Amino acid sequence: MRVIFLDTYDHVAQWVAHYVVYQINSFHPTIDKPFVLGLPTGRTPMKTYKNIITMHQSSQISFKYVIIFTMDEYFGLSCEDPKSYHAFIHTNFINHIDIPKENVYVLNGDTNDIKNECKQYEEKIKSYGGIDLLIGGVGSDGHLAFNEPGSSLTSRTRIKNLSKETRISNSKFFNDNIDSVPKFALTIGIATLLESKEIIIIATGLDKAVAVQAAIEGSINHMWTITCLQLHPKSILVCDELSTMELKIKTVKYFQELEINNQTITI
Ligand code: GLP
Repeated sequence: MRVIFLDTYDHVAQWVAHYVVYQINSFHPTIDKPFVLGLPTGRTPMKTYKNIITMHQSSQISFKYVIIFTMDEYFGLSCEDPKSYHAFIHTNFINHIDIPKENVYVLNGDTNDIKNECKQYEEKIKSYGGIDLLIGGVGSDGHLAFNEPGSSLTSRTRIKNLSKETRISNSKFFNDNIDSVPKFALTIGIATLLESKEIIIIATGLDKAVAVQAAIEGSINHMWTITCLQLHPKSILVCDELSTMELKIKTVKYFQELEINNQTITI
C-alpha cells in the first residue's frame, strides 16, 4: 500500500484530482479502449470533483471515452430522488463534464429484482474489462462503498443493511433526521472493488482517524473493511493531517520516507 500524507483537505483534493487526470490522459482512451473509472459519493470527494471539473473546463481532460461506475445506492430511493446517489453524482460531477450519459452506471436502488440488478452490475463491469481506477472515501466505521463492518472480504455486489453509525453520519444529507436515512443499500462488494486495477481511498477529517489506523497499522479484518487495501497490489491511501491522528509517529515517518524515495523513482 502506498500512503500519501498531506496537510489539508484542499491539498488532498488537489493531489487526487491531478492523479485521476494524469492516469486517464496517460491511458489515451479511445472509443474501443475506454478508461473505466469507479467513483464515490459523500462529502470527501466533493472538492476533488470541483478540481477535476475546473481541469475539464480548461481543456486538460475529456471524459468522452471514459466509463463511470459508482459504488453504491440507497435501497428504496429512485434515481429522481434528490437524496439518491444517482442524483448526487450527476449534480456534483457528471452534469459538468463531457461524458456521454450512457457511459455512466449507477445501481438502481428502486429495483424490484435486487438479485438481478446486482448480477447485471457485476457483469457490466466485467464487460468493460474491469475498473481501471477506483476512487473511494471511507466511513468512520472503516467501510468502503457500503461494505459495513462484518462484510465478507469476498463479497460481490449485493444488498447490505446500514449500521447505526453510518445512518447517523449520513443523516447530514437527510436534514439531520436519522429516521429518513434508508436502512439498506445496494453496494459493490469487497471482492468487486479489489478487482479494480488500481484503488485510491481518500480519508480526511478527525472522524476517519481510527479507520486510517486500522487500514495501515491493523490486521486484515472484516470489522474494518478498509483493511482489504492490504490485499491489493496497487492501492493508495491519501490522508489529510487530521485523519492521521491515531497513527504512531513512527508509522507516519516510515511512509513519508518511502514517499521521498518513491518520488525519486517516478520523476
Ligand atoms: C457513505 C458512502 C461511502 C463514503 C462514506 C464516507 O456511506 N457509501 O462510499 O465513502 O460514506 O462519506 P463521507 O465522505 O461523507 O464522510
